[in-house]
Amino acid sequence: MLKNRWTYRIFFVACLLPLAYLAWKWGQIRINRLEYVARYTGDWTIRFLIASLAITPLRRIPALNGLILYRKSLGLFAFFYGLLHGLHYYQIDVQWDWAIMKEDLTIRRFFIAGMASLVLMLPLALTSTNWAIRKMGGKRWQALHRLAYLAGVAGVTHYLWQGKSINYDPLIYAGLLAVLLGARVVFYFHKRARTMMTAG
Ligand code: HEM
Repeated sequence: MLKNRWTYRIFFVACLLPLAYLAWKWGQIRINRLEYVARYTGDWTIRFLIASLAITPLRRIPALNGLILYRKSLGLFAFFYGLLHGLHYYQIDVQWDWAIMKEDLTIRRFFIAGMASLVLMLPLALTSTNWAIRKMGGKRWQALHRLAYLAGVAGVTHYLWQGKSINYDPLIYAGLLAVLLGARVVFYFHKRARTMMTAG
């Protein structure tokens, strides 16, 4: 079912629905449009990023092995919504005022963390093609793609540092990320122990 071409197509269209909804809603938002769009696109960026990271542990469940086909697209959608989120801020809010941008990116930890997350996703997006995997070799490609976890940490930190009001959502994402990182560490040591046992 997961490997079915139609399932993938439906998934792909579903990933575009947040964008379609925003386009539809755009003209109707009368108050605080800037804030609404910034928050909406930020939310979808972090959701896609966490979802892409969740695939690695989930695909260990035999019935969910086919999820691997969706990991790359989820990561690319995270980058796409992140780019939209960043561009919206710089184009509509700041209007490419270099003085504000410089100030944001030198003294405001909230913006530094957001930019760090987006920049960390860039090499992953650029090397997402089969050609790049072949050129880099599987091991190097996999090592580079661990940056996705760092992008997740920076993204969640950005959200935690937003700190305008008491909001538990960033803590939920921080918790999810901690579980995913924890799972990664457990699998790593499990694999190492197995290799040592077979070698010895
Ligand atoms: C160029 C990089 C970025 C800039 C300039 C930026 C800017 C912003 C701004 C202005 C807000 C709205 C703050 C508010 O109204 O309180 C925001 C919120 C947010 N951003 Fe970013 N951001 C960037 C990258 C990212 C990335 C890469 C992620 C995710 C990985 C992210 C996730 C979020 C989240 C989750 C929120 C809060 C949404 C909510 O309140 O529901 N941002 N960001």
